[in-house]
Amino acid sequence: MTNLTLDQQLDIIEKYDANPEQILNILVDLQFASAAGYLDDGTIKLVADCLHLTQTRVFEIVSFYSILKDRPQAKYVIKVCNSSPCRFSHGPLVFAELEKQLGVKEYQTTADGLFMYHGIPCFGACDRDPVIKIKDTVFDQLTAETIGELLTALRNGDYPEL
Ligand code: FES
Repeated sequence: MTNLTLDQQLDIIEKYDANPEQILNILVDLQFASAAGYLDDGTIKLVADCLHLTQTRVFEIVSFYSILKDRPQAKYVIKVCNSSPCRFSHGPLVFAELEKQLGVKEYQTTADGLFMYHGIPCFGACDRDPVIKIKDTVFDQLTAETIGELLTALRNGDYPEL
């Protein structure tokens, strides 16, 4: 379920003037702004109401675009910055290490259901690159070794708040 307040969701929708032609941008922004990392039923209903569309139409759009998700994808959804500053410095290292250490590609869930990772736009930690974000927690200045340590800690339940 989204952690955004109704006002925060409405701000995102109004940023695009509740324009149905902007529905993809609206849905992407709502999904990535939420720590949950997916669009829950309430969010989809809100978008449908504000854009004067049916919920069925909004669900069709969510289903069509693989970047959009309508259910939790894994216990830990690891978000990797894919904006230019990170992409042209250490971002590729993070993606490569996650693929190597988790054995899955971006947007795929590990067989144990614990992990999925994907890129998102800048989340304001550019000066601490390489970075990842899980829910609202940022892990910074990562190396291949510390990524491995973090994954082990998550498997061991060392971050109960995540
Ligand atoms: S560009 Fe990567 S966190 Fe800002």
